[in-house]
Amino acid sequence: MRYLLDIESLADDDISALMQRANALASGAAPRVLHGSVANVFMEPSTRTRVSFELAARRLGLDVVTIEQASSSASKGESLLDTARTLSAMGVEILVLRHRDDEAVRRLAEQLGLSGHQSERQPERQPGPSIVNAGSGGRAHPSQALLDAVTLARTGLDWPQATIAIVGDIRHSRVARSGIALFSRLGAGELRIAGPREFMPDDNDLPHVQRHDRIDTALRGANVVICLRIQRERITGSYPDGAAYHRQWGLTAERLEQLPPTTCILHPGPVNHDVEIAAELVHGPRSLILEQVRIGVHLRTALFEWLLEPSQN
Ligand code: CP
Repeated sequence: MRYLLDIESLADDDISALMQRANALASGAAPRVLHGSVANVFMEPSTRTRVSFELAARRLGLDVVTIEQASSSASKGESLLDTARTLSAMGVEILVLRHRDDEAVRRLAEQLGLSGHQSERQPERQPGPSIVNAGSGGRAHPSQALLDAVTLARTGLDWPQATIAIVGDIRHSRVARSGIALFSRLGAGELRIAGPREFMPDDNDLPHVQRHDRIDTALRGANVVICLRIQRERITGSYPDGAAYHRQWGLTAERLEQLPPTTCILHPGPVNHDVEIAAELVHGPRSLILEQVRIGVHLRTALFEWLLEPSQN
């Protein structure tokens, strides 16, 4: 069975098949009828990702259960591997996993014999479910990157000509990391990142993106602006925030005014109004934020089809 850990382990053909199918579903194609069981294991809070995986599974006729940290036996010390094996013994074939610790997700994948590039020979498969990474630590959120790419592709974005500016807390953002990995593979013309020094990745990290130390230079001529919230749950110590942060690093109406009229705004959510983005822009005409949420259900529907019926993709 297939699995999804990160963008890097997807083949180009798989990216293309997933994006095309999500686009078709978003345009009204009927989902397939599938059989199987999915467990959403969310060890970190979520609204969009958790609910969209649940809705996607139900649309396909799959059984779906959701397990959260506080109400699961993880709170009594059960290991992730034992949870995975327990769910597998009940017939669960796909484990959709969100975890604060990227290493925990990678380790579980290795323990289940799921790792590396899927086109390569895999280590011997241990009994257990397939895994979908629904957001791990600060490193990977592949289904978010795919839904963002589908959302942009549906606007008619000309990837080689596109300048995409990602602004905010890049350092702690799995969305930025997976997005950059995918947008590069799709041939994005220019990828820029900008944020306060504490929120920028290390110097040798993300070598093929342009770094900016002011939002205004990062935004200049951008076709897409991706605003990121401050990932407070991953930061210890003090950091810039609030109104002062908004003045220096927030997307404001005045800043948007300087951009081409077709420039669109993305944000993976949840949004902190008047911090990384002005409240008036969140649901304004240039915002695709709720379109991202809508496409998220279709992308995750396409993902379950791809996982369970590989021969159809
Ligand atoms: N974009 C995203 O992962 O949002 P949630 O945390 O609400 O799932």
